[in-house]
Amino acid sequence: MALTGYSWLLLSAVFLNVRAEISITPEPAQPAEGDNVTLVVHGLSGELLAYNWYAGPTLSVSYLVASYIVSTGDETPGPTHTGRETVRPDGSLDIQGVLPRHSGTYILQTLNRQFQTEVGYGHLQVYEILAQPVVVANNTALVERRDTLRLLCSSPSPAEVRWFFNGEALPIAIRLGLSPDGRVLTRHGIRREEAGAYQCEVWNPVSVSRSEPINLTVYFGPERVAILQDSTTRTGCTIKVDFNTSITLWCVSRSCPEPEYVWAFNGRALKNGQDHLNISSMTAAQEGTYTCIAKNTKTLLSGSASVVVKLSAAAVAMMIVPIPAKPMEGQDVTLTVQGYPKDLLVYAWYRGPASEPSRLLSQLPSGNWIAGPAHTGREVGFANCSLLVQKLNLTDAGRYTLKTVTLQGKTETLEVELQVAREC
Ligand SMILES: *[C@@H]1O[C@H](CO)[C@@H](O)[C@H](O)[C@H]1NC(C)=O
Ligand SMILES: *[C@@H]1O[C@H](CO)[C@@H](O)[C@H](O)[C@H]1NC(C)=O
Ligand SMILES: *[C@@H]1O[C@H](CO)[C@@H](O)[C@H](O)[C@H]1NC(C)=O
Ligand SMILES: *[C@@H]1O[C@H](CO)[C@@H](O)[C@H](O)[C@H]1NC(C)=O
Ligand SMILES: *[C@@H]1O[C@H](CO)[C@@H](O)[C@H](O)[C@H]1NC(C)=O
Ligand SMILES: *[C@@H]1O[C@H](CO)[C@@H](O)[C@H](O)[C@H]1NC(C)=O
Ligand SMILES: *[C@@H]1O[C@H](CO)[C@@H](O)[C@H](O)[C@H]1NC(C)=O
Repeated sequence: MALTGYSWLLLSAVFLNVRAEISITPEPAQPAEGDNVTLVVHGLSGELLAYNWYAGPTLSVSYLVASYIVSTGDETPGPTHTGRETVRPDGSLDIQGVLPRHSGTYILQTLNRQFQTEVGYGHLQVYEILAQPVVVANNTALVERRDTLRLLCSSPSPAEVRWFFNGEALPIAIRLGLSPDGRVLTRHGIRREEAGAYQCEVWNPVSVSRSEPINLTVYFGPERVAILQDSTTRTGCTIKVDFNTSITLWCVSRSCPEPEYVWAFNGRALKNGQDHLNISSMTAAQEGTYTCIAKNTKTLLSGSASVVVKLSAAAVAMMIVPIPAKPMEGQDVTLTVQGYPKDLLVYAWYRGPASEPSRLLSQLPSGNWIAGPAHTGREVGFANCSLLVQKLNLTDAGRYTLKTVTLQGKTETLEVELQVAREC
C-alpha cells in the first residue's frame, strides 16, 4: 500500500517536473522560533479548486496538514496540523509562532477543474534561540606533556560550534584537535601555552550564545633551576663574598605550581623550606657548596642547582683592632686581626716600623713563634695573627706593625696606633 503510494508519487513528481512551476519559499527565509512564518507559493496557474498541504517528505495522508476548498474557504485540518497553520486563499500557508519541530519538507498539492494535480516542494528550517552552552572538562588541572585535555561544548540544540581561548577565536592549529561536529576539543600531551580560559560558542543564523569561561591550569617544571645572588644578579658556579658581609641566595625556577624548596650545605640538608637562604655574616665556616632542590608536588619532578660560596680574597681587608680599644696601664690588650689571609704562611709583629731591630716576634708555619729583638717577655702571638701584650706600661703606647706573607708569597703590612691610658 505504502509502496504503491510512493510509486505514484515518484511518477507524478517526474511527470509534474516537466511543467512544475510551483515554488515555495518561507518568509522570513531564516525564521527563529516564535516567528510568524508564511510558506509563500509562487507559480500557481489555472482555476484551482483545492489545496492540500503536507508536512513530511512524501505525499501521504498521514502527513496532511490541511485541505482547503478555494470556493468556500473551508479548511479541514489533517493529522499533522499543530493548531498554528492556516491556508490562505492564494494557497500560501501561515504558521503562527513557529517551533523547531515545524522544520522539514512541505508539499503543496493543487487540484484544478480538470481534476489535474500539481505539486510544489518547499523546505522550512526553524532556528532555535540558543541557550547558553556549558564547557565540560574532564579535568581542569593537567600535567604538561602527560595529560590529555578533553573539553565538551554541551548544548541541547543543533548549532554550529566555535571555540575561544582567552577571549580570542581558537587558532586553526589548535582546532585540529576538534571532533567532526566541533563539540569536543581534545589535546594530547597538553602544553603550558594552552593553559587559560576556554569558552565555546554555539550559533545559528538567528542567535549566538557563548559559554562562561572554564579555566585550565597546566602544571610543569621545575625547569632551569638556578641560584641567584640577591635576587638580581645571575651568578656563575662560584660566588665570592666579602668577609663579614651578608648575602641572600635565591633559588629560582620555571615551575607551576611554585615548587617546594630544600637547601643543602656541603651535602647536608638545612632546615630551610624557603626560596631563599641568608648568609648573615660571611666567614670561612660558611665557605662551601650550597645546593637548592626544587620539587614540584604536581608534576612530581624535581631539579637542583649548586653554587660554591667563597670568601673573596681581594675583599679581605685586613684590620687590626685592639681589644679593649683603650686599655689602661697594667691591663692586657689583644691586637686582634680581622680578615687575615686564609693562606697565611708566616707573620711578624714589630713595635714601630717593620725592621729587624723592632721585631717583637714572628710565627712560623708550624705554629711556633720566635721572639725577636724587641720582645719584652710580655707579648704572645696566636695562630690567628693576634698579638697579646700583657701588663701594659705607658711606654707600650705607639705604633705596631704587622707583616704577613701568604703561601703565594704575597706580602702585606698593616699598622695600628696603640693608646695606653694612665692609671688615675
Ligand atoms: C504573530 O501573529 C500574531 C497574530 O497576528 C501576533 O499577535 C504576534 O505578535 C505575531 N508574532 C510575531 C513574532 O510577529
Ligand atoms: C580526559 O579525557 C581524555 C581523552 O578522552 C582521557 O585520555 C583522559 O584520561 C581523561 N582524563 C580524566 C582525568 O578523566
Ligand atoms: C577564571 O579566571 C578568571 C581570571 O583569572 C577569573 O576572573 C574567573 O573567575 C575564573 N573562573 C573560574 C570558573 O574559576
Ligand atoms: C662584622 O660586621 C659588623 C657590622 O658591620 C661589625 O659590628 C663586626 O665587628 C664585624 N665583625 C668582624 C669580625 O669583622
Ligand atoms: C633573610 O633576610 C631577609 C631580609 O634581610 C628577611 O626578610 C628574611 O626573612 C630572611 N630569611 C631567613 C630564612 O632568615
Ligand atoms: C685569636 O685567637 C685568640 C686566642 O685563641 C683569641 O683570644 C682571639 O679572640 C682571636 N681573635 C680573632 C679576631 O679571632
Ligand atoms: C715598661 O716596660 C719595659 C719593658 O718591659 C721596661 O723596660 C720599662 O722599664 C717599663 N716602664 C715602666 C715605667 O714600668
